[in-house]
Amino acid sequence: MAEFIKNIEVKIKRYDPELGKELVSTYTVPVYRGMTVLDALLYIKDNVDGSLNFRYSCRMGICGSCGVLVNGKPMLACYTQILHLNVDSILIEPLPNMSTIKDLVVDVSHFFNKYRYIKPYLIRSTYPQHEILQKPEDHWRYWNYTLCIKCAVCYAACPASIDDKFLGPTALSTMYRFNIDTRDEGVKERVKVSEDNIWLCTSCHSCTLHCPKEINSSNSITELRSVIVEGGFVPKTVRDVLSNTFLTYNPWGMPSEKRAEWIRDLNVKLLNPNEQCENLYFVCCGPAYDVRCQEIARSTAYILNSIGLSYGILGVDEWCCGDHMLRLGEKGLFEFLAEHNIQAFRDHGVRNIITNSPHCFNVFKNENPYSSLTVNVKHYTQVFAEALRNGLIKPLREINAKVAYHDPCFLGKRNKIFEEPREILQSIPGVKLVEMNRNRENSFCCGGGGGRVWTEEAPYDKRPSVNRVKEALNLNVDIIATACPFCIIMLTDAVKALGLEDRITVMDVGELLKLSLP
Ligand code: FES
Repeated sequence: MAEFIKNIEVKIKRYDPELGKELVSTYTVPVYRGMTVLDALLYIKDNVDGSLNFRYSCRMGICGSCGVLVNGKPMLACYTQILHLNVDSILIEPLPNMSTIKDLVVDVSHFFNKYRYIKPYLIRSTYPQHEILQKPEDHWRYWNYTLCIKCAVCYAACPASIDDKFLGPTALSTMYRFNIDTRDEGVKERVKVSEDNIWLCTSCHSCTLHCPKEINSSNSITELRSVIVEGGFVPKTVRDVLSNTFLTYNPWGMPSEKRAEWIRDLNVKLLNPNEQCENLYFVCCGPAYDVRCQEIARSTAYILNSIGLSYGILGVDEWCCGDHMLRLGEKGLFEFLAEHNIQAFRDHGVRNIITNSPHCFNVFKNENPYSSLTVNVKHYTQVFAEALRNGLIKPLREINAKVAYHDPCFLGKRNKIFEEPREILQSIPGVKLVEMNRNRENSFCCGGGGGRVWTEEAPYDKRPSVNRVKEALNLNVDIIATACPFCIIMLTDAVKALGLEDRITVMDVGELLKLSLP
């Protein structure tokens, strides 16, 4: 008999179709070593409340039936040990993005219909006597994508799937699985069903993070986009972003000479060609050109000056980091931009890079050819948090406001920087920091990643940004603070779309810090 460890409180948010409403039932469950969330549900059903409904079958992570939300995270109930959650109470809810039939049982037909839509079988005109083998380098990828158990956990985690039009991570990663199968001849057919909605993916990485089988769906969607881009099947919005970036080195199509105009009266060192500079502030296209985001660049520079750091910026020599281009599937353009920036870093003898944008930060650290560089890359929130700890800056002015921090996906989910922005906000006198229900690894995307900041075409109620602002509104906050220029753009637009300009302000963490400095 397994060892008894402790009692925990299990709350279940269940749906009663007869009353047409949700209710929460609370139970006390004795937890034994190795007990899973599914075991807890079975304990409740067998011993306390026989009326509870939920789905399961194999009990070993194969059938994909038992997906639920546990403390806000989508997961398989049979795969999740309660003691591993390290909590004394859990809230179990039905998976989102699907309608609930009863209690924890959701209608998965919508999810499977999308899957069928992509024709998940080999499409061939003839059947050769001898099978064409796959390329050896594709074997591991092919194998990886066959592991999917269709549990819909990724679909529930996906911000783009709040829009019915989006096929979802499972269907798209399965499409990729056929795409790399050299026996299949259905590429064009499948591209047709995805070319108008694949751009809704925000590359937020949630599908990959939450997948119980560790399938990298996020990456497969990027690979599929490459196929679509190579075939020239891109909508005008995407085409414009790509051609602007190719011609002017920024997605807005602005002249390079205007890249440093945001400096105006600030004391910022604009580097001359080949001038040596140990610490580089990589501004990013958003803060360089977007009028709202220029304020972010200005507050960042102001604080770097307050810290007493000696740094420079590249000006015309700074090209787009290329993250959005890479996620849009234009690998060639990404490499073209990266090679230029790498050369500029070398020419100036750069040893440390400070970025405003989590997107620049992410590619510099994680994507080749940047990741081969031997430079130290930091997001500005890391630099400011360190300066606060070392007493180099002291926020003394009060900002009396209730603030919710929105985790940018490329900073949080992809690079695990969760605490530094919160540390900065908590250091500001008067700020009351509150957490949205979906935070840190479970944060809900602003909808701007993967190039969607320029290609957003969904109706307002299907935009992740609007969904996110509504979540903050429920907490009655005065300010949504974030640490990414693209989150600022998306959330500010959503505040305007909801007519909330008088209720909520969207601000960068650095902007708030600057206001609090004497
Ligand atoms: Fe089959 Fe959980 S019961 S995957």
